[in-house]
Amino acid sequence: MNNYLTKSCLLAFLVAAASNNCNIASAFANTKGAPTSFVKARSATATTAIAAAADGFDETRGGTHTIADQVARFARAKEENNERYLDIKSVYDGGDLSGKRVVVTGGNRGLGLAITKELVAIGASVLVICRSSSPELEALVGQYNVYSGVDVTDTEAVNKAAKRVKSDGGAIDVVINNAGYFYVPCDTINDDSLNFEEQLKQINICALGPLRVNAAMVNSKALADDAKLVIITSQAGSAEWRTTQNKDEGGDYGHHMSRAACNIAGVLQAEELRKKGYTVILLHPGFNRTTMTKKYEHIWDIEGAVDPSEGAKRVLHETILANIEKTGKFINCEDGLEIPW
Ligand SMILES: NC(=O)c1ccc[n+]([C@@H]2O[C@H](COP(=O)([O-])OP(=O)(O)OC[C@H]3O[C@@H](n4cnc5c(N)ncnc54)[C@H](OP(=O)(O)O)[C@@H]3O)[C@@H](O)[C@H]2O)c1
Repeated sequence: MNNYLTKSCLLAFLVAAASNNCNIASAFANTKGAPTSFVKARSATATTAIAAAADGFDETRGGTHTIADQVARFARAKEENNERYLDIKSVYDGGDLSGKRVVVTGGNRGLGLAITKELVAIGASVLVICRSSSPELEALVGQYNVYSGVDVTDTEAVNKAAKRVKSDGGAIDVVINNAGYFYVPCDTINDDSLNFEEQLKQINICALGPLRVNAAMVNSKALADDAKLVIITSQAGSAEWRTTQNKDEGGDYGHHMSRAACNIAGVLQAEELRKKGYTVILLHPGFNRTTMTKKYEHIWDIEGAVDPSEGAKRVLHETILANIEKTGKFINCEDGLEIPW
């Protein structure tokens, strides 16, 4: 039997989560300005979910989908001793990617660097597209496999990089769109802090960035016949989950809009590119202990944040599982389940 929740299991779990969550909830009493996708939004979440479940709503859709409340999700994994969630090494075998040619954007630091390190460790050829290189990166993948000076908002630079990738070697098996940006302040209407420039910047990097890179790879004919186009997105792009993760607060407009736009662009790419044989997959990488989330380290433990080396294995595990039948899906790398739009 797999670890998917039946409705009754979900109800039982949420009752347990609600009774255990008081301390956890109080730890979130002052989360103003926190990236709400990373935090348990409000203390009433588990209770709300119980009421919803009692009304017949099953947010797991019978077990195909993961749950919105991140604290409850992590607590459930511990309660179930879910090895897939708690120890990716128990299921991960990177061997399928050995010998493959893989492009990673933003592979110079954070999760992207961890993915690059893991790919090198399993014997893949890694080509890193980034804004700035480093001696460490060049020692890792080889100087000629670093395409630096490429901002994913610069169409010309991205197109040039794709053409160089094509002329420098064999076909690309996997493209991992990892480069991303999260504006630090939480902008809201109520305190008149909306920052439209930052919102557009996030949309440009996080939504148009992967579209530019994937389009450049397709149009430069750099891809292998059955190439996989991986887009690292975020649960922040789920509109359904805003009523849990941003309940009664909203905020972080650019962050959420950029990932929702990223997701719909991913689905459109999946539809357009299926006939070419390319798989497009949208991956939420889980909560990783990187520079992007450093200011929230006080919730790393409670939310199940992992070292990027673990996050990298999670991403690569789902990359290996991706195939044309799953093209256009939005997957949570923590548990391998779908996230609702
Ligand atoms: N960490 C998490 O828990 C988490 C959760 C959900 C989703 N994600 C997503 O996972 C990805 C990696 O996140 P991370 O935590 O590793 O973030 P990070 O530590 O902030 O690293 C971001 C990476 O993206 C690159 N980048 C930013 N803007 C760029 C641009 N305009 N052009 C090219 N590269 C650019 C950065 O390059 P520079 O060094 O040049 O700045 C860096 O390599 C991001 O897409 C993020 O949104 C992360």
